[in-house]
Amino acid sequence: MKKLEERILHDGNVLGENILKVDSFLTHQVDFSLMKEIGRVFADRFRESGITKVVTIEASGIAPAVYTAEALGVPMIFAKKAKNITMTEGILTAEVYSFTKQVTSTVSIAGKFLSPSDKVLVIDDFLANGQAAKGLVEIIRQAGASVEAIGIVIEKSFQSGRKLLEDDGQRVVSLARIEKFENGKVVFGKADA
Ligand code: G4P
Repeated sequence: MKKLEERILHDGNVLGENILKVDSFLTHQVDFSLMKEIGRVFADRFRESGITKVVTIEASGIAPAVYTAEALGVPMIFAKKAKNITMTEGILTAEVYSFTKQVTSTVSIAGKFLSPSDKVLVIDDFLANGQAAKGLVEIIRQAGASVEAIGIVIEKSFQSGRKLLEDDGQRVVSLARIEKFENGKVVFGKADA
């Protein structure tokens, strides 16, 4: 997605070896007009797939996911990272290990929001090692629902996430694919949309 790549080049900051900071439009402050376009691009791509739910994980997946859900006219569900006292029964959970933070956390979705007839589009802001998306796939499978595809806003292709998901039979569609960071600059590979 050309507009997204241009925005990354303009406003993204490379931190250290492998982190891209995009807090001015995606992970902290949110540019709703860009998110809306991202939602439209994902929706156009999956309009014929019969998607019934969009699933993401809090926090930064929510913005692109909600606009994708709006464009498809389906509900958006976000997995929660903290245990919530109002979530009392029928909770589906998965363990997610964060290489960045080196901690394992339990993520959850109330089972009542997913059913075996659901065809789910998973959306997330970043694909790095793929642990978050893997956890979401696990939860969706526990509900007996199917994962149609995984839509990613920014993929870091030099990390192992895509391989992990594709080896599990998932279809991954990324709007921007970062091949490498070179002298503090982003180098893109060919995106999927
Ligand atoms: P994984 O989900 O692909 O396995 O990624 P990893 O464990 O490496 O990353 C953990 C967290 O760091 C995730 O957010 C992920 O989106 C984020 N992340 C990974 N690489 C980058 C990057 O280059 N830039 C930025 N800005 N974030 C990155 P989180 O902390 O779990 O969630 P959130 O609450 O920030 O959304």
